[in-house]
Amino acid sequence: MIEKLNTTVQFTMNLFTTGAFKETSRKVEIEICSRLPGEEGQVIVEYGLGHGNITREILSRIAPSSRLYAFEVNEEFCEHVANDINDDRLIIINDSAENLFRHIDASVNGFVSSIPLTFFSKELRERILKNSYQSLKPEGYFSQVLYSRVHQKMLKETFDRCSVKKNYNLPMEYVFHCQKVSAS
Ligand SMILES: C[S@@+](CC[C@H](N)C(=O)[O-])C[C@H]1O[C@@H](n2cnc3c(N)ncnc32)[C@H](O)[C@@H]1O
Repeated sequence: MIEKLNTTVQFTMNLFTTGAFKETSRKVEIEICSRLPGEEGQVIVEYGLGHGNITREILSRIAPSSRLYAFEVNEEFCEHVANDINDDRLIIINDSAENLFRHIDASVNGFVSSIPLTFFSKELRERILKNSYQSLKPEGYFSQVLYSRVHQKMLKETFDRCSVKKNYNLPMEYVFHCQKVSAS
C-alpha cells in the first residue's frame, strides 16, 4: 500500500515524463505481456520501467536464457528497480527509447511499451516507432498501452497488423498489439 502511494506521488511529481498519475492496472500488465515469446534465447525490450510493475510480469513470462533490456529516462526509477528486482536477465538502460540502436544491435523478439507517446512531438513518436519496427523480428509484437486511440492510425501505418484491447478503467486504458509480418 505504501509502495503504491510512493509510486503515485513520484509519478505525479514527474508528470511531464511519466504521462500518468499512477501505474497501469494489473489487467493491463497481464494483457500487454500476452504476446511475449516464451522460447529460450529471446531478446525483449521494455520502454518505460517506472517502478517495474510491468517489468516483473515480463520476467515471469520469459525463459531463463532470454534477456530484457529496459529503457527508462528517470534515473531514480532506474535505481529503484535495480534495488527492487534481482534478476540477471534484466538490463536497465537509463536512456530514452529513441536511442535504442545505441544499446542494442541484435534483432528484438518483442517490445512492451508504456512510454507516454502522446506527450512526445510527432517526430519523436515516429522515430521511436520506426526504429522499433526496424529492429523487430518478423512475427514479433510491439505492444503499447495508451489512454486514448489518438495514435492508433500511426501505429497501424508503422506496423503490418494492429489490434486493440480496451480496459474499462479510470482513465480508460488501450493496449495496442502491433505485429511485424514481413522482413525489412
Ligand atoms: C506511464 S509511466 C509507466 C510506468 C510503468 N511501466 C507502468 O506501466 O505503470 C511511463 C514511464 O516512461 C518513462 N519515460 C518517459 N519518456 C521516456 C522515454 N523517452 N524513454 C524511456 N522511458 C521514458 C517515464 O519516466 C515513466 O517511468
